[in-house]
Amino acid sequence: MSSSQNKIIVFDTTLRDGEQSPGFSMNIKEKVEFAFQLKRLGVDVIEAGFPISSEGDFESVKAIAQQVDGPQICGLARALEKDIDRCWEAVQYNSRPRIHTFIATSNVHLEKKLKKSEKEVRDMAVKAVKHARQYTDNVEFSTEDAARTGRDYICEVIEAAIDAGAATINVPDTVGYSNPWEFGSLIEYIFEKVKNVHQAIISIHCHNDMGLAVANTLAAVRAGARQVECTINGIGERAGNASLEEVVMNMVTRRDSFPYEIGVNTEQIYPTSRLLTRFTGIAVQPNKAIVGANAFAHEAGIHQDGVLKERTTYEIMSPESVGWRGNAMVLGKHSGRHAFMTRIKELGFHLEGADVETAFNAFKDLADLKKTVFDEDLIALVSEQTKADEQWKYKLEYLWFSSDPDRIPNAKVKLKTPDGVMEGEGQGDGALDAAFSAIKTMTGMEDVQLIDYHVGAVSRGTDAQGAATLILRNGEHQAIGRGSDTDVIKASVKAFINAVNRLSRHQTPIEKESVV
Ligand code: KIV
Ligand code: ZN
Repeated sequence: MSSSQNKIIVFDTTLRDGEQSPGFSMNIKEKVEFAFQLKRLGVDVIEAGFPISSEGDFESVKAIAQQVDGPQICGLARALEKDIDRCWEAVQYNSRPRIHTFIATSNVHLEKKLKKSEKEVRDMAVKAVKHARQYTDNVEFSTEDAARTGRDYICEVIEAAIDAGAATINVPDTVGYSNPWEFGSLIEYIFEKVKNVHQAIISIHCHNDMGLAVANTLAAVRAGARQVECTINGIGERAGNASLEEVVMNMVTRRDSFPYEIGVNTEQIYPTSRLLTRFTGIAVQPNKAIVGANAFAHEAGIHQDGVLKERTTYEIMSPESVGWRGNAMVLGKHSGRHAFMTRIKELGFHLEGADVETAFNAFKDLADLKKTVFDEDLIALVSEQTKADEQWKYKLEYLWFSSDPDRIPNAKVKLKTPDGVMEGEGQGDGALDAAFSAIKTMTGMEDVQLIDYHVGAVSRGTDAQGAATLILRNGEHQAIGRGSDTDVIKASVKAFINAVNRLSRHQTPIEKESVV
């Protein structure tokens, strides 16, 4: 392989660097569905997780490796044999597996974190790459905190890793410290000094602590890097990673500056961003480039006038080119199954068998309640349904509450369980608090704490559905829950039950073995 090639390899790490940041966790089913969407988006490599960090990560990397064929499926491993073995156990099922191993190279990491000398770290890197090569020739090696590493030492480690058999060398700005001219010049230096550099692809991985992740990534591409590591919506540790949609649309829109091949199907960008928002419950800021709600909205009269006369006066990319179709009203009470399924597919869902019938019936019920059904309503409705497919322990059967100002708020709840229906009652500061308290007692989760809670309208109008997202903590575990309904209290209670189900099933450690 050679870094002089013309193709840019797009490496998506949403499911690893993105998902490891607090509040962004997804369950296995969601991760697999998201990986299928990344395949539709046309990314070259999916970093599916960090297998040794938790049982859940291992299982999801394995499931993605088993089910998603096409992109390379990669797992992360520290430069330790046990990490690499575990990583291989998970990715081996794929037809194009990759092991990504890394060790920090900056002085502060060597002295304070690893307590090792430069030679020891270089030897560990070589040993790790050689160990990974016993499994596959598709080995990536990263010099963590490269941007704060002495240039000559970094070149020495890179050269040794390539000699040991690494096919890709990743140069991360782990803490978002660099700037475009410095980072570009670091990549140039590597090309100049590392003798065997053309035997590997040079990759970059930039964090956004000072808002420069995309700029640094692009500067590195101009300097010769041919793999870009990024995440959808720019999610990731702290301030996040370079946003995939921004990196890609820069290169596609400015072919004059970036005359490279790129395999991404840009029309899948918006559906991918929406899917991530739906799974994590975390919306992107309205003014976010490419995928924010206002990214293509022209507010000023003078701009609107210009765009109506000639779109390119104020638009450098078309909304359609990133798969944005606006939020037009699409369906109503008289819409048939075919129209419903067509729209659902356009929105990025893949329903099959009995799920089609259940979703269509739920749509008909909603269309009876609401005059107009918007895309956002459909997304909420099908999300509620796919959530219901998860293994569940409790389902909301009935909810009654009283918030009479002269009495203590009271709620009655019936929960369906695989063994029958259970009933309970609770009191609290308000209707929600009362319902939550009833559910806590009924499920034996008296100690759960609500650590985050958002409720918003799914679409427009006073009859809009409400969507609730919350995070519950139980001891050292936490889970995210989501619910939607035309009644916001019911939406919140559904979200609470969803989180309780997740807490009682696969409990996510708050602190995974996080190292980056
Ligand atoms: O930021 C970082 O250095 C990383 C490495 C593991 C690539 O995420
Ligand atoms: Zn990172």
